Amino acid sequence: MRVSLWSEFLNNRQRTIHKWTHYFAAYEAHFQRYVNRPVLFLEIGCGRGGSAQMWKRWLGPHARIVGIDVNPECAQFAEDQIAIRIGSQADMGFLQSVLDEFGAPDVVLDDGSHQMAHVVETFRYLYPRTARDGVYMVEDLHTAYWDEYGGGLGREGSFMELCKRLMDELNADWTRGQLPPTEFTRTTLSMHFYDSIAVFERGRHEVAREERISGRRALVNSLLRRKG
Ligand SMILES: C[S@@+](CC[C@H](N)C(=O)[O-])C[C@H]1O[C@@H](n2cnc3c(N)ncnc32)[C@H](O)[C@@H]1O
Repeated sequence: MRVSLWSEFLNNRQRTIHKWTHYFAAYEAHFQRYVNRPVLFLEIGCGRGGSAQMWKRWLGPHARIVGIDVNPECAQFAEDQIAIRIGSQADMGFLQSVLDEFGAPDVVLDDGSHQMAHVVETFRYLYPRTARDGVYMVEDLHTAYWDEYGGGLGREGSFMELCKRLMDELNADWTRGQLPPTEFTRTTLSMHFYDSIAVFERGRHEVAREERISGRRALVNSLLRRKG
């Protein structure tokens, strides 16, 4: 029987994990498909090491967890299936060295400094370098509204303001030329928002979009007549 991530958390007898309880539904919704798959899971911010162990237990034997943190003490959290690299998420040279060593991550979970400048920079660098069908999650985004993290309601430079613009970019094809489609438009399937969490599901639109109608022939015909 599969153990839920929530059970993994509740029954944790290993290193300490620090989480808001309402995050678990989002984790399960977006990471479940990687369970027992060969996934490269990049966690930014190791804390006390327990979350990396939780991902390892839940994702199974084929998962590789890479934790990055500025705190050198986190190096001790390395174990089978868990690699730790020490550096700042705001250092793109460091991020690139992690990519060079491990390859493109399938999952990025940003639980690092929560400073808006860092979250934005990290996203801009890592998102296009995440696996083309991967998922990018940023948590603790309540800091996007807090001054001491460079946030504030509607404040330029906060990650939430970037997200608002990206929502338009996702739909650029429908703006009748007002907004040219970008790399983000072409590589993003969906964006999801929860309390304090933003998630980006990557994936190219391989087929042109098309409208289709299904149903009983008579009903479909009458609908088509009405559409003109
Ligand atoms: C909230 S804790 C992570 C908690 C852990 N993921 C968990 O769920 O238990 C945040 C971590 O981010 C690290 N951190 C702070 N600034 C950072 C930066 N610029 N780059 C990378 N990690 C950073 C801190 O050292 C700390 O370990």
